[in-house]
Order: sequence, then structure tokens, then C-alpha cells
Amino acid sequence: MSGDRKVKVLYDELAIADRTEALAREIAAAKPKELLVVAILKGSFMFAADLLRALYRAGMEPQVEFFHLSSYLEGTVSSGAVKILRDIESSVRDRDVLLVDDILESGRTLAFAKDLLAARGARRVLICTMLEKPGKRAVPIDADFVGFVCPDVFVVGYGMDVAHCYRELPFIGRVVTAQDAA
Ligand code: IMP
Ligand code: MG
Repeated sequence: MSGDRKVKVLYDELAIADRTEALAREIAAAKPKELLVVAILKGSFMFAADLLRALYRAGMEPQVEFFHLSSYLEGTVSSGAVKILRDIESSVRDRDVLLVDDILESGRTLAFAKDLLAARGARRVLICTMLEKPGKRAVPIDADFVGFVCPDVFVVGYGMDVAHCYRELPFIGRVVTAQDAA
């Protein structure tokens, strides 16, 4: 339960929707071939659903897969290791893949996914994240398409959680406790 915690909005629904349409146009302009969008669960589910509809409007016909990866222990501290909780089912051989995630922070999750799909024979592995926190990378990796460069605070909403809460929020914000407000 969220208790007395409130969420201060950083990116509202309209800002997210506008940026997502622009991202889809950028992705379409990269002319991916036989595009397979791979949404990394759980955090990307809301962004991926919106991005896919925007890709349709941008004239793309992507197929969709889900990769359930986990790199965080409960709470806000990374465990370092990435685990596959559920693998994708399609072959990526000779296809262009677009990995979609909520946020690029240490880069471990996306580096793991990119290396694995490249090793399985993907032609190109592109990365699209809604958010990027600069200066936090533990491994050298960049996203090809980024929604917003965000401040170095723990964010929630629009699919992102803290201890399983707040994924349902239609906006992105930071948790403000009663202590912060005081
Ligand atoms: P990585 O550190 O780049 O591997 O990020 C791994 C995952 O940690 C992301 O996909 C998110 O699910 C989660 N994460 C990183 N930073 C935040 C945050 O500020 N809020 C919520 N989840 C986060
Ligand atoms: Mg995640």
C-alpha cells in the first residue's frame, strides 16, 4: 500500500503521449526490416502498448514479443545480475529487433538483452527507452531512441514501480514522503 506517500508529477500524460508519437516517427525513419518489438517486462508494459499503437500510426507493422527480465531486488537497490524469468518465443535470426524498456539506468538489463539477441543472430538490435538517467551507467550502452532524459531520482508510474506499487499511474513522477514535504 502506498500509505501516506504522494507522487509528484514529472512527466504528465500529454507530454508522454506527444513524445511517444515523436519516438514512433523516429523509429519508422530508421526503416527497420521485419521488425520485432521486444518489450522487457514488467516495467515497459504500458510504454510498449502506447509505442506499438504509435508505430502503427507511423505506418509500421511490427510483431511483438515479451521478455521478462529481472535485475532488481525488491526495493530500489540493484542486485547486479540479470535473470531471465520468461524468454521470447520467436526466432530473431536476420531480423531487426527493437528492445523497449521503461528506463535505462545502469544499462545491465538492456546490455544483457542486446548481447543475447545479437548472439542469437539478430541483424540489428535497437533500443528504445521512455527514460534515461545519465551518469548512472555501469556498462557502456546507449539507447537509440529516448523519450526523456530524467533527473537522478527514483521514479514511478507509467509501468514503473517501487515494491510493486504505482505501476498503474498514467503519468511518471517521484515519490514524495511526508518527511520530504516537511
Ligand atoms: P538498469 O539499471 O539500467 O539495468 O535498469 C533496470 C531496471 O531497473 C529498469 O528497467 C527499471 O525497471 C528499474 N529501474 C531503474 N531505475 C528505476 C527508477 O527510478 N524507478 C523504477 N524502476 C527503475
Ligand atoms: Mg524494469
